[in-house]
Amino acid sequence: MNTSLTNTTEYMKGKTLVISGATRGIGKAILYKFAQNGVNVAFTYNKNEEEAQKIIQDVESNYKIKARAYPLNVLEPEQYIGLYEAIDKDFERVDFFISNAIIYGRSVVGGFAPFMRLKPKGLNNIYTATVLAFVVGAQEAVKRMQKVGGGNIVTLSSTGNLVYMPNYAGHGNSKNAVETIVKYAAQDLGQFNIRVNAVSGGPIDTDALRAFPDYDEVKAKVEKQSPLKRMGTPKDLAGATFFLCDNTQSGWLTGQTIVIDGGTTFV
Ligand SMILES: NC(=O)c1ccc[n+]([C@@H]2O[C@H](COP(=O)([O-])OP(=O)(O)OC[C@H]3O[C@@H](n4cnc5c(N)ncnc54)[C@H](OP(=O)(O)O)[C@@H]3O)[C@@H](O)[C@H]2O)c1
Repeated sequence: MNTSLTNTTEYMKGKTLVISGATRGIGKAILYKFAQNGVNVAFTYNKNEEEAQKIIQDVESNYKIKARAYPLNVLEPEQYIGLYEAIDKDFERVDFFISNAIIYGRSVVGGFAPFMRLKPKGLNNIYTATVLAFVVGAQEAVKRMQKVGGGNIVTLSSTGNLVYMPNYAGHGNSKNAVETIVKYAAQDLGQFNIRVNAVSGGPIDTDALRAFPDYDEVKAKVEKQSPLKRMGTPKDLAGATFFLCDNTQSGWLTGQTIVIDGGTTFV
């Protein structure tokens, strides 16, 4: 990776982002942020293939970049191996990997629950989708980044590992785990000019949060607690992920978690 470039536009243009779960919410906002800055995007969906195709048409025609979508289930992290082989056929290089996809619904039964209703299967599913998927997705990315002289890796985390959120023990402890893996990966991968970081968000208004049974209470609490008096939006996290991938802006930042919480964790 050429670190002599000092201009974000020049640095980003023509590079490739791989991102999981970009059909909705935070992932979609991140995809648009990169596409608007001339970055080609290889992104995954789970069920929303139709939405994925709409996104491709939109960003390719508006931002003159290349976009392709691929199916991925983060409950089976090895799927990343075949996914990257497909990406290799469509794109010349991989520069950035963002692990964003999240599971919910039936697969988190026993994981998204009060402590006394936690079950190994539900907890394991959340760990698999959050930590193991990050590991395999990042390993495959690194193999490609080494060929182009470096790259940047970011995982999404959440402040549910800093403050109590009802039912969130499974997600909260897996987010802690992925933040720790980030620090280890950063140490091991720095020699390849690869930086690894996390962006941790407070409650952001997306489908994942709207699936919480206490969504209305969470929203009201955040709007009251935040000094900014509003919920977070997907765009509020997109800028930080872009910053972390931009060597001209964050070139010596690695192994860290940037917390974007609207001021809600220090109350
Ligand atoms: N929302 C928050 O309050 C908040 C706060 C902090 C951090 N975060 C983190 O930000 C990330 C994105 O969350 P979000 O709120 O933006 O979620 P979201 O809007 O609900 O979007 C979830 C994405 O994940 C995909 N997905 C669902 N199940 C999947 C599976 N089994 N395998 C692969 N992909 C799957 C979905 O694809 P389909 O559309 O195809 O189903 C979708 O693209 C997560 O890591 C989350 O923990 C969220």
